[in-house]
Amino acid sequence: MQDQPKLKIKKRSNFVLHIHPATVLIDSIKFNRTFGLGGMALLLFLIQSLTGILLRFAYVPSPDKAYDSILYIENSILFGGFVRNIHHWSGIFFVIIAFLHFVRVFYSQAIFVPRRVNWIIGIALLILVIFSNFTGYLLPWDQLSFWAVTVATNMLSYIPFIGEGMLRIVRGGNDVGSATLLNFYNFHTGILPITMILLMIWHFWKVRKAKGVAVYEGISDYRVPSYPNLVLKELVTGLILIAIIFLLSALLNAPLQDRANPAYSPNPAKAPWYFMGIQELLLHIHPFFAFVVIPLFFFGGLIWFPFAIREGRQGEWFHSEKGKKLALQAAILALILTPAAVLLEEYILHIEDWLPGWPKGISEGLFPFILLGGSLGIYVFYLFRKFKASVHEIIVALFTVFIMGYIILSIIGIWFRGEGMVLTQPWNI
Ligand code: HEM
Ligand code: HEM
Repeated sequence: MQDQPKLKIKKRSNFVLHIHPATVLIDSIKFNRTFGLGGMALLLFLIQSLTGILLRFAYVPSPDKAYDSILYIENSILFGGFVRNIHHWSGIFFVIIAFLHFVRVFYSQAIFVPRRVNWIIGIALLILVIFSNFTGYLLPWDQLSFWAVTVATNMLSYIPFIGEGMLRIVRGGNDVGSATLLNFYNFHTGILPITMILLMIWHFWKVRKAKGVAVYEGISDYRVPSYPNLVLKELVTGLILIAIIFLLSALLNAPLQDRANPAYSPNPAKAPWYFMGIQELLLHIHPFFAFVVIPLFFFGGLIWFPFAIREGRQGEWFHSEKGKKLALQAAILALILTPAAVLLEEYILHIEDWLPGWPKGISEGLFPFILLGGSLGIYVFYLFRKFKASVHEIIVALFTVFIMGYIILSIIGIWFRGEGMVLTQPWNI
């Protein structure tokens, strides 16, 4: 323990110090506590809003003008292409950073009371970030965006009873067309950003109410003034992120393919990259399980966990040293077994052929799902028997299996599926 000299903090009526408390625990501002990911997410939202507002001056949300307005932005407006590039690349960064922040928060166990509500607000924010990207995806109205949105919205029809209705509401009709473009535009530039602003205000207030980020008890209670200690770190992280985005936007143009042609579907037609894990899963298991049951299990579990198990070691990475070891082991296991399962299902395990005449929901859905659930059950039993793992440690390991599994499925879907969605090498796509 370090002795804490009495801190003299000058009274400042300054905006930054209203966001932060006057002093913070020295351990809470170490970079490897948060990796600055929450702050980066906020900065990316600001960049998106600023560049998005600029793009709105020239963008026209109608199928016969949208593509031309993008060409106009790129070719006729000073720095138009650069602004579009920034919006495109930082939109991708936003999804990745929000995802990493979500993973960091989970692994540092900052999900129990008093952070439980913030964890759920965070899950809502993650979904909104993904939908912000998705609704923006359609706007250029080129072949890439048109077909990616067609493929991804199609997945909605797999939801029983309400799926077809939802699909028609989202598209504003049966097919992707002018009503879809207007719907997406209004969500993208109105409803979604406004909802996010409200949720973010609530999110930050909850961080303050919880007395800052989670730091494991027993650690030093030495405090330092937020300014300059925390504010300077945030400034440096922010400037580095801006520099990376500017550099990328100067060197690499946002993609723009041919004008959308509803009569000609590219082969393969793929969903946006963050939905490719689901599209890959759909090739192996009945859509009801891939699109409804498995995501419900995952997100339901994430929300259930801090309610069912009310306490945890907040701020302690992976709950414990054993938790860390098991997470690493789970990551390696998923890294090897996910591609193995994809190959097995693709070439050997054809349950639907072995059970001709059975409803597809059972042969292609229920049975593979039981196989998957059974394997996870055996794995949990193994963790419990061999390592005497606690509930927290088991959940950390299962979370790792899901996250790693989804990443691997996405990689296979994006880079290893060619024409007709057949498995192939990346250089043959
Ligand atoms: C909240 C986070 C946001 C994300 C993740 C996001 C993402 C995207 C993406 C991925 C595109 C397609 C860009 C392309 O590849 O061409 C796009 C386009 C667009 N966005 Fe956003 N956006 C966000 C916020 C906003 C906001 C707040 C506005 C305006 C108020 C806006 C206005 C636009 C416009 C006008 C386009 C069409 C121009 C174009 O495609 O280049 N966006 N957005
Ligand atoms: C727009 C997206 C988001 C923004 C701008 C944002 C911003 C922040 C900021 C600035 C913090 C303070 C510390 C830090 O940097 O980690 C924070 C903490 C937190 N965030 Fe987020 N966040 C977002 C999304 C999420 C998501 C996706 C989750 C989880 C699903 C989440 C859950 C939390 C929790 C539980 C804390 C408290 C962490 C702790 O006490 O250690 N947030 N967020």
